Amino acid sequence: MSTPAATVPRHVAIIMDGNGRWAQRRGLPRAAGHRAGVKAVKAVVRHSVQRGVRTVTLFAFSSENWRRPSEEVGVLMQLFIEALQREIGDLVANDIRLRFIGDRSGLSERLRESMLEAEQRTAGNTRLDINVAVSYGGRWDILSAARALASEVQQGLRTPESIDEAALAGRLSLGDQPEPDLFIRTGGDHRISNFLLWNLAYTELWFSDLLWPDFDEKAYDEAIDDYSSRERRFGLTSSQVRGAS
Ligand code: IPE
Ligand code: IPE
Ligand code: MG
Repeated sequence: MSTPAATVPRHVAIIMDGNGRWAQRRGLPRAAGHRAGVKAVKAVVRHSVQRGVRTVTLFAFSSENWRRPSEEVGVLMQLFIEALQREIGDLVANDIRLRFIGDRSGLSERLRESMLEAEQRTAGNTRLDINVAVSYGGRWDILSAARALASEVQQGLRTPESIDEAALAGRLSLGDQPEPDLFIRTGGDHRISNFLLWNLAYTELWFSDLLWPDFDEKAYDEAIDDYSSRERRFGLTSSQVRGAS
């Protein structure tokens, strides 16, 4: 059964979980799982373009992942730099825009430079938007937005009463992008782990038992096709929704 284009999710947000377990099951170091995870990212990016998804937000490293052993954190940071340098040419050639969300203050100078360069080189691209969440936490995001608004009030630029949902949403990391339609988490756990807390309010959730390196086009299609069969009601009754369409 083919999916009507109108019901393909416009924005997909993914928690890429299970790299460590994937490696451990093969008797390999966790780092091998993270490397295999990069391949799965490439497959999902390619398939997003094919299916007509316009935006993909990938959770690569959470604000809580800093608490992992420093060796693993180091491997991940090194992997981000290498993957960026290796893939940037392909992103440019395929008209893909890459941006990062998260608290960059704890990242190395070298990684920050690579991130900035990738953002600048892909800034004019329009085929697919990729947001990679690095050192990101949903609470950090809301807190930063609240601070920005508090500072505007302090400077006399706005009143507390003028702060509404749109004002706060607009100051979040993804403030200029549509809300995620579909959320996918691999690795078998059913939790948000401090990902996009505000933005996921009405996102359709899909959990896969596959470990991230095993998540392929077929698994992605399954999630997209299930999304396409759902009725999103946003608090309305079913007949209201059908009447409106
Ligand atoms: C996800 O895989 C990648 C990151 C969190 C950086 P994990 O490293 O969490 O893998 P598991 O959950 O331990 O298998
Ligand atoms: C969530 O995975 C974060 C990323 C995939 C980057 P975790 O493995 O850190 O999540 P928890 O600790 O199991 O909730
Ligand atoms: Mg995990």
